[in-house]
Amino acid sequence: MCGIIGYVGEKEALPILLDGLRRLEYRGYDSAGVAVAGKKGVKTARAIGKVAVLASRCERKTLSGMAGIGHTRWATHGKPATRNTHPHTDCTKSFFIAHNGIIENHEELRTELTKKRHIFKSETDSEIIAHLIEEEYRDAQNLEKAVQFALLRLRGTYGLAVMPNVLPGKIIAARMGAPIAIGLGEGENFVASDAVPLLPHTRTVLYLEDGEMAVVTAKGHAVRTLQNKLVTRGAEMIEWSADNTQKGGFPHFTLKEIREGPEVVRNTLRGRLIMENGLANLGGLQNITQSLHNAKRIIIVGCGTALHAARVGEYMIEEYAGIPVEVESASEFRYRKPVLDKETLVIAISQSGETADTLEAVREAKRKGTMTLGVTNAVGSSIARETDAGIYNHAGPEVSVLSTKAYISQLVVLVLLTMHLGRERQMSLSAGKRIAKELEELPKKIEKIFAQEKEIKKLAKKYAKYEHLLYLGRKYNFATAFEGALKVKEASYIHAEGCGAGEMKHGFIALIDKNFPTIAITPETSVYDKMLSNIQEIKARGGRVLAVATEGDRRIMRLADDALYIPKTLEMLSPILAVVPLQLFAYYLTLERRLDPDRPRNLAKSVTVE
Ligand code: AGP
Repeated sequence: MCGIIGYVGEKEALPILLDGLRRLEYRGYDSAGVAVAGKKGVKTARAIGKVAVLASRCERKTLSGMAGIGHTRWATHGKPATRNTHPHTDCTKSFFIAHNGIIENHEELRTELTKKRHIFKSETDSEIIAHLIEEEYRDAQNLEKAVQFALLRLRGTYGLAVMPNVLPGKIIAARMGAPIAIGLGEGENFVASDAVPLLPHTRTVLYLEDGEMAVVTAKGHAVRTLQNKLVTRGAEMIEWSADNTQKGGFPHFTLKEIREGPEVVRNTLRGRLIMENGLANLGGLQNITQSLHNAKRIIIVGCGTALHAARVGEYMIEEYAGIPVEVESASEFRYRKPVLDKETLVIAISQSGETADTLEAVREAKRKGTMTLGVTNAVGSSIARETDAGIYNHAGPEVSVLSTKAYISQLVVLVLLTMHLGRERQMSLSAGKRIAKELEELPKKIEKIFAQEKEIKKLAKKYAKYEHLLYLGRKYNFATAFEGALKVKEASYIHAEGCGAGEMKHGFIALIDKNFPTIAITPETSVYDKMLSNIQEIKARGGRVLAVATEGDRRIMRLADDALYIPKTLEMLSPILAVVPLQLFAYYLTLERRLDPDRPRNLAKSVTVE
């Protein structure tokens, strides 16, 4: 997810662009850049790191003009580097673009344009848009048409701002799958990824819809569809209070990122499912294809939430690919002298890609000549760079200390990896197709869970008074128990413990009484009846039970005191749905305790020290 800002009007553009980028940093912060159209043509400035670095660089340059575009990046293709920083331009420096989204057919377009002697300066998918416009402009000799024809050739998603090297300033904005807002002012107009950076200037905002493009000048704007149909939709008045604009209208990043779950699943899957063959298309594994084929054993390492995702991956890969898998906390793996060989694959899961213990585990595996694969959300992070291959989450920046949307994405990546490994081993075509179909259904199913948000808030109010909570799960939801408990522990400071339901009778049940409620993750799966027995044992000892069950389950409320429901799905996908009500439950428990879920005490977003 990246941030785009554009301005055209009667004021100097640069300060407006820099302020807008500062307000958009929550959308991405690994590099930033601006392009300003002035009397001497378009001048640009780019910098790695936060917008403040770009601002100080701009102080040493003259970027004067009354039109400009800016971009703050969350890398998806091409590591954080000046050459990969937007705005990108074409060979003739006639068109400058800032892009948010993923162009799925960027490789084939890059090949085609290279054959036409276009010179690329970056490794990004975005840069091809500028060259495509340049190519179309040669025939169309009209900017709007050139942009329109170029966009019709793209597959994937874009929120886009295009600024030509002409005066008076003009910006063309377009949207397909990634938001674009047009801010309407007096003698000035704005383009942005969302309303956040517009609020200091205007509250009159027109949101583009997919397949629309807008021509924006200081004097006005016009919106058409890519099929050239005029759009006359009116603007909206934004009511957001200034202080929560960074969170896109949500009170906390935690809630914003939980609610991004459906979009995160779509972005994680984008371009990676071959439905008709039930296959996963994972570009980042090209250079370890043979090692994957020869893998006789897999070890998955991670910390915290990433470790819980690893546990789910273990069950998936063993059941559907038939490869033995071990899961280990990275902080243990790196010290215990693991026995590794060339037929072992070590997978390191890390949202930040910078967790010290996970990074050291990768180094330990490499020292022993073992192939390593990274699953990270940060392009160009240490783990992404040091592993032999990788799969990016494409989940967008996760700002809250609580890892929520990244966990969802990690599980989806592990399903894709299971399909990749399984289909060349024991997974049938029909199994692959069924999983692919169910994966595509997930976003809608997560949206359905959000409809219970009021009920979840009510239950959080009821359970916030307890000092102890037990989370129980089995098999694919064994890890869900630990992940649900971790969310509560780290944000609300309630003592919450994850426990494999089968383990309960080996000690934990001694703690159960009316002051120690249980959250029982009990979707209709192969271990449903076992979970019902656990609930009965708890009830027999006076314990209260909140169950997470499958919608339509008529038996659960004969036993449990409360229940939240998730839509039916494949057993291997049930942890992706089951964790969503638990994330919201932890969030509202935290609010009930008058705490800030975004910044829990004693914790950092990324534990880069040992
Ligand atoms: C999860 O909510 C915690 N913030 C923490 O356990 C986190 O998952 C862990 O530190 C691993 O971080 P990583 O995924 O960036 O490696």
